Formats: sequence, structure tokens, C-alpha cells
Amino acid sequence: MDFADDVRSGLSAPQKRLLPKYLYDDLGSALFDAITALPEYYLTNAEAEILRDHAGEIIDAVGYPVELIELGSGSAVKTRHLIDAAFVRQQTLRFCPIDISSAALDASAKALRREYPRIVVDGINAEYLSGIARLSRNGARCRLALFLGSNIGNFEPDEARSTLSALRSVLDPGDGFLLGADLKKDARTLEAAYDDPTGVTAAFSRNLLGRINRELGGRFDLSTFQHTARYNAAASRIEIRLVSTIEQDVAIDHVGIVAHFDAGEPIYTESSYKFDDASISSLAVAAGFAVTGRWTDASERFADYLLTAQS
Ligand code: AVJ
Repeated sequence: MDFADDVRSGLSAPQKRLLPKYLYDDLGSALFDAITALPEYYLTNAEAEILRDHAGEIIDAVGYPVELIELGSGSAVKTRHLIDAAFVRQQTLRFCPIDISSAALDASAKALRREYPRIVVDGINAEYLSGIARLSRNGARCRLALFLGSNIGNFEPDEARSTLSALRSVLDPGDGFLLGADLKKDARTLEAAYDDPTGVTAAFSRNLLGRINRELGGRFDLSTFQHTARYNAAASRIEIRLVSTIEQDVAIDHVGIVAHFDAGEPIYTESSYKFDDASISSLAVAAGFAVTGRWTDASERFADYLLTAQS
């Protein structure tokens, strides 16, 4: 399935939906970077605090010399705390970032090589699963895979399990996996993080329709779609939608469809799941890992869990 196929099936379904992975074209990745600078989007700063304060302990728990793998690395800003901690303990470091944005991957590899002359960056421009399948081992004593920023939250539970199992299958027993997870909390804090007053998150969402216009000959008028974010506490997830404010027909020329929207009809674009120790532990165990470490920020908004691959 490529973008055109997914758009065709997603917008022809009775409950319209688009997959969150398509949010991250080059413009979308840049908009997501802007989200991480919003005061309401506390996730990034909370995790940066954790890694700043505990990167050394994390590397010590995994062992070294270590090799780092990162799924969805983006600009890899927070990763630098772990890279710094590794270089305190070893001379050289191999870093294998996997990202679907080639612009983000190239920019971060370039910056890292400039900042760390002794780093070897083997970037993989791919989706998670095909990227994981292309990973090779290079003689490091220990490996630590990173999946930071609560990127796991975009997966439906069955997808989360299968992705973690795929990662487990390329790791050896004893290898580490650091999993960043946004913790369950009050709806007000969560909804503000996903519907900020500056409108950056709304722009990030609407860019999905802009991308359809640019790449697939879509004729969306972005101003007729409203971004909404609601916390569904029963399902432990933020639900993000683009709601058509008017009744309209939208042609997508290269896909060969005309999508009809009733006034108030939503396109479901993203789930962002929220976690606690129990949900992380059951996910870890189902995928062949044990939870062997846990660190949180001072206000306990976010946690990084160290999982260890089991034999
Ligand atoms: C990149 C999946 C971690 O769910 O917090 C942020 C995506 N969407 N604001 C999240 C997102 C809208 C983000 N992740």
C-alpha cells in the first residue's frame, strides 16, 4: 500500500480515516519540530529532563561499549544526552537512526557528524518495520534501541505489540530497548497539549490534507477543516480528527475519487495512547521483553522504561 492507496481506502470508508505516518513529509516533520517547542506540549521537555539527568545510569544498565539504534529519530535532539553518556564510556559509537523523513535523517546525520567526530551514523530511510529488517549488527558488545517521545502512542495496541516483537526478533537476549511513554493524566492537560492556542498542532494536522493536494492532486480547502483533540479516558487515548465544517465534495485527481463530506463529518487522523506501568509491562512481556528500569521527570508526566530482551 502506498500513500494513494491508503488515501483511497481511508476516504472511501464509512468512517473516514488517514494514517498518522503520512503526517511526516518534510513540511510535517518541520511542523512537528515546532510542536515540540510549544509550552503546552510538555512531552519533549519532560523526556529531555529524564535523559539529561539519567543517561549515564541508562547506559550503565545496558552495558558498554554500546551501539545505538533509534526508531523515528527525527532531529535526534534528546538522543544527544545518551550519545554524550556513551562517549564518556567508550571511544567510538555507531548510531543507526531509522526515519521516514529523508530530510530529517540527512540533517540530523550531518549535524551529529559535525558535533561528534568519532560517531559512525548509519541512517536508514524507511518505515519502522522495513527499517528494523535492514538493521545489521556490528560487533558492539551491547545494543540499545531507542523509541522515544511516546512515538509508540500512535500505534493501535496490536500494532504496538507486533512492532515491538519485530524489534525483539533482531535483538539478542540482554540487549536493551528504551521506550518513552507519555503517562495517563487529566484530560485538560492532555487536550491542551494536542490543541494548542498558537495553532501549530492544527497546522500539523491540516498539512495531511495539504500533502494530499501537493502529491495526489487533491482539491482540499484546508480552511474548511477543523482540528479537534479529545481525550477518551476509557480507551486511554487522545483522538485527533479533522472535521469538515461544511457539506462538500472534494476531488482527488490522481487517486480518481471524489470524497463527499457532510457538515460536521470527521476524518480520524491520529490516536495518541497514554500509558501506565501496567500497560507498558503487559506490552513488553507480550513482545518478549522484561521491564528492567524506569525513570520519570520530576512531575511524573512522562516515563522512559528500559526493557531487556529475554531469551
Ligand atoms: C510523535 C506520536 C509522539 O502523539 O504526542 C503530537 C504526535 N500529534 N501532536 C504524539 C503528535 C499531535 C506525537 N507523537
